Amino acid sequence: MEVLKSRKTLQDFIERQKEMGKKIGFAPTMGALHNGHLSLYEAARSQNDLVISSIFVNPTQFNNIEDLKKYPRDINRDIKILENSGLVDAVYIPEVQDIYPEKAESRHYDFDGLENEMEGKSRPGHFDGVGTVVEELFKQVKPDNAYFGEKDFQQLAIIKKMTEKKGLHINIIGVNIYRAENGLALSSRNQRLTEDRRKDSKIIYETLIKVNDWFRVVSIKEIKDRVKDVFDDQKGMQLEYFLIADENTLKETDFFYKDKSYRAFIVVVVDGVRLIDNMHLD
Ligand code: PAJ
Repeated sequence: MEVLKSRKTLQDFIERQKEMGKKIGFAPTMGALHNGHLSLYEAARSQNDLVISSIFVNPTQFNNIEDLKKYPRDINRDIKILENSGLVDAVYIPEVQDIYPEKAESRHYDFDGLENEMEGKSRPGHFDGVGTVVEELFKQVKPDNAYFGEKDFQQLAIIKKMTEKKGLHINIIGVNIYRAENGLALSSRNQRLTEDRRKDSKIIYETLIKVNDWFRVVSIKEIKDRVKDVFDDQKGMQLEYFLIADENTLKETDFFYKDKSYRAFIVVVVDGVRLIDNMHLD
């Protein structure tokens, strides 16, 4: 596996691959890699000649300096994980100035309103930061296909929107949420939870399963009340939001219409760690 530590080495590498006509699959990350990330490379492996990963803790998408500081970083561990997986041909690990040559600032994007829902409300400026870094990474890596997890469903929708609006000619492919055996969605932030709290947090997934059972049987108001009750009874867990949204517009809905598809979205703060999850309802 090639470890590319500057924009220049990446550029030379990409040029060579493009000359050979290689089809490039790309999955960007912020490191602290786990099996959820590896599932993106697995999807990419079967559809491309070459699989490229990137590791970059993007400062402009953190709306909270403490969260940025606390973000787990261990680049040598990550490189080993990638190497042992045998799924990745090259990893790009840029410095801040490789991505932001002047100032680490985000551009402003119009994602047709997708940015104003859910995480957009809870984390102002977050999606401008994500758009800026992903657009820049796309420009440098020049992938044919790019892979994003459904765990961050709104992010996936926003990247699809950006790619379409900017005419970037990159296929954006969503990958299923990879879960621990107890159902907890894998996340780099889980490392900050104690073993016991990781066990308790399976209640998030269990609640989503129940919501799916209640879907189109119980009113949305009643579903929301029941979810609130579940988390009121959990010590040390705060329900930041739970809602059901139209899967395409991501707008919260109060009623289920016949021909629309819906997804439940939830954020729970467990011992100060923000856990995010979602589930398609059927
Ligand atoms: P990060 O949180 O490292 O996630 C990188 C990619 O892995 C994202 O597409 C995310 O949705 C996916 N992912 C994380 N956990 C997953 C899981 N349990 N199952 C499936 N996919 C999972 O998301 C980011 O980084 C950043 O915002 C980034 C896109 C790299 C831009 O900085």
